[in-house]
Amino acid sequence: MELMKDGKRTDGRKRDELRPIKIEAGPLYRANGSCYLEWGGNKVMAAVYGPKEAIPRHIQDPRKAIIEAKYNMASFSVSDRKRPGPDRRSREISKITSEALENVVLVEMFPRASIEVEIEILDADAGTRCAGITAAAVAMADAGIPMRDIPVSCAAGKAGDTVVLDLVGTEDMKGQADVPIAIAPRTDDILLLQMDGHMTAEEIDEALELAIHGCHQIAEMQKEALMTKYKTFEEE
Ligand code: CDP
Repeated sequence: MELMKDGKRTDGRKRDELRPIKIEAGPLYRANGSCYLEWGGNKVMAAVYGPKEAIPRHIQDPRKAIIEAKYNMASFSVSDRKRPGPDRRSREISKITSEALENVVLVEMFPRASIEVEIEILDADAGTRCAGITAAAVAMADAGIPMRDIPVSCAAGKAGDTVVLDLVGTEDMKGQADVPIAIAPRTDDILLLQMDGHMTAEEIDEALELAIHGCHQIAEMQKEALMTKYKTFEEE
């Protein structure tokens, strides 16, 4: 299958076009904050608990709160049923998600506390770490966790010899590179930068530019989702 034909991608998108994204803030009643997000073929639920006393006590930091993100892929989220439970990949994604969030949350306000973020991937079609971070950020804001900015994440990469925004599953599998990033959109501070595959320095610059532009579009959707929830709340 050709990944790029007449300027169009396998799913008909242009090179700088995002997949359709839908964000809902606060769908869960029992978590302190939550977010449901659909992004192309990805479906993600994120829930936030805390800040609360970190347990066991030896994990407490007397200077700040710790962020404990847990990324999990449901076994039914991929075509070859995934073996349930943590693996290397989910540990890695949990770690980079915690680190991205830690850099925007005012952690110094909650010494000895932990803020738990659970990310459940219900359906996966590439870019789930970006979808997870984007959903976690909205869930954090919904929980009222003080943050310098609402982080947002998106990937760009190379498929069909073209630098493209937001790779879909087939492009991720058969393409040449994938560069997921997360930023704080007010300052464009980079909170996450990874790369899988090969690109020239110029192509990396081009991919970063595309991904940052994508992040800004998604940041607007995050804000809209939060405003919609709190507008409805006020009306009730
Ligand atoms: O999801 P993301 O792009 O952040 O991470 P990845 O490790 O690059 O995985 C790319 C895609 O491969 C996932 O989104 C899934 O669609 C698929 N995948 C899978 O089918 N089975 C797994 N055990 C892991 C990933």
